[in-house]
Amino acid sequence: MADEKGKSVQTTGHAWDGDLQEFNNPLPRWWLWSFYGTVVFAIIYWLIYPAWPIADSYTKGFGTVSYQSGGKEVTRHWNTRAELLQDLQSGSETLKQQAYLQKVAAASYDDIANDPEMSAFTQSMAKVLFADNCAACHGIGGSPARIGQYPNLRDDAWLWGGDIAQIEQTIEQGRNGFMPAFGEVLGDAKIEQVASYVLGLSGHQVDAAKAEAGRAIFQGQEGGCFYCHTTSGKGLPSQGAANLTDAIWTVADVPGAATDADRLKAVEAVIREGIQRQMPGWKGRLSTTEIKLLTAYVHSLGS
Ligand code: HEC
Ligand code: HEC
Repeated sequence: MADEKGKSVQTTGHAWDGDLQEFNNPLPRWWLWSFYGTVVFAIIYWLIYPAWPIADSYTKGFGTVSYQSGGKEVTRHWNTRAELLQDLQSGSETLKQQAYLQKVAAASYDDIANDPEMSAFTQSMAKVLFADNCAACHGIGGSPARIGQYPNLRDDAWLWGGDIAQIEQTIEQGRNGFMPAFGEVLGDAKIEQVASYVLGLSGHQVDAAKAEAGRAIFQGQEGGCFYCHTTSGKGLPSQGAANLTDAIWTVADVPGAATDADRLKAVEAVIREGIQRQMPGWKGRLSTTEIKLLTAYVHSLGS
C-alpha cells in the first residue's frame, strides 16, 4: 500500500536512511480558508465585544447599545445588561404598551371609564404601580392591615374627597392629616364626654348625659371640634377632617374594640393624642400619566 501511495503522492525529495521519504501532503484548500476565516472572525469579535482581560479591567470593544434611562438616551459599550434594558424598551409588546399609554394619557377620565378596553388596561397597569409605590402603606389592593396609620382606600369614605380631581391632588401633592392633641386642653373628664358625643354621632350606645355635655364642648369654643368637623360632624374634605357620623373609622380603632367601654377608650385616645399623618406627594417621582392611572384606579376602588 505504501508503495502505491508513494507513487501517487509527491515527496519533498528528502530521504533518510536511504529509503525514508517525506511526502508532500498540503492541507486541503477549504480547510485552510476556514481556518483563516476563524482567525479573522475572532479578531473582529474582539474588536466589537468585551474580550481580553487587562489588569483589573478588560477590553470593552467598540460595539454599543443605546437605551432610555431617566428620560435620556444613554449609550453603553455592549453588555448583556444594556442589551436587556434596550430589549425591554423596544420589544414589540413594550412598543404596543407605550402606544396604548399615550392613548390613555390623551384620553379624559370619562373616556377611560367608558371604554372597557382602556379601563382594563388602566386597571392592570395601575395595580402594578400601586403594588410598587403605595401598597407598603395602604396594603395590597388598598386595605391596610389595621386601622390607625393609613386610611383604607377601598371604602367610599374619603378624608380629602373622592372626586377624580381631589384624588389626583392627593396623589400629586400629598396631604397632611393633622388634628391637635386635646389631652392637656380638656382633661380626662371632658375628653370622655366629647368622645361619648362623637360615638353617639354614628349611632353607638352612649351615656346620654355625658354625650350632652360633650355636645357643648364639640360645638363650642372649648373644644372647637366643629371648626374642622363641621357642626353636623360630617367633616371637611378641605381640611382632611374625618366624617364622624358614618361609622367608618380611619384612626380610632372602634371596629377592633369588643365592648362599649373599649370603643370609648379608642375614641378618647385619638382626641387626647391628636393625629399627625402624612401622605407623601408623588409629583416628580411618578410621571403625569402614572398619576393619572393611579387616580383612575383609586377612584374605582372606592366606588
Ligand atoms: C409612606 C406611606 C404612604 C405611601 C407610600 C402612600 N400613602 Fe397614601 N396616604 C398615607 C397617609 C398617612 C394618608 C392619610 C393622610 C391623612 O391622614 O390625611 C394617605 C392618604 C391617601 C389618600 C387619601 C385618602 C382619603 O381618604 O382621602 C389617597 C387617595 C392615597 N393616600 C393614595 C395613595 C397612592 C395612590 C399612593 C401611591 C402612589 C400612596 N397613597 C402612597 C400614606 C402613604
Ligand atoms: C384643626 C382641625 C381639627 C380639629 C379642631 C379637630 N379635629 Fe378631629 N380630626 C381632624 C382631622 C384632619 C382628622 C383626620 C386626620 C387623619 O385621618 O389623618 C380628625 C379625626 C378625628 C377623629 C378620628 C376619626 C376616625 O375616623 O378615626 C376623631 C374621633 C376626632 N377627629 C374627634 C375630634 C374631636 C372630638 C375634636 C374636638 C375636641 C376634634 N376632632 C377637633 C381635624 C380636627
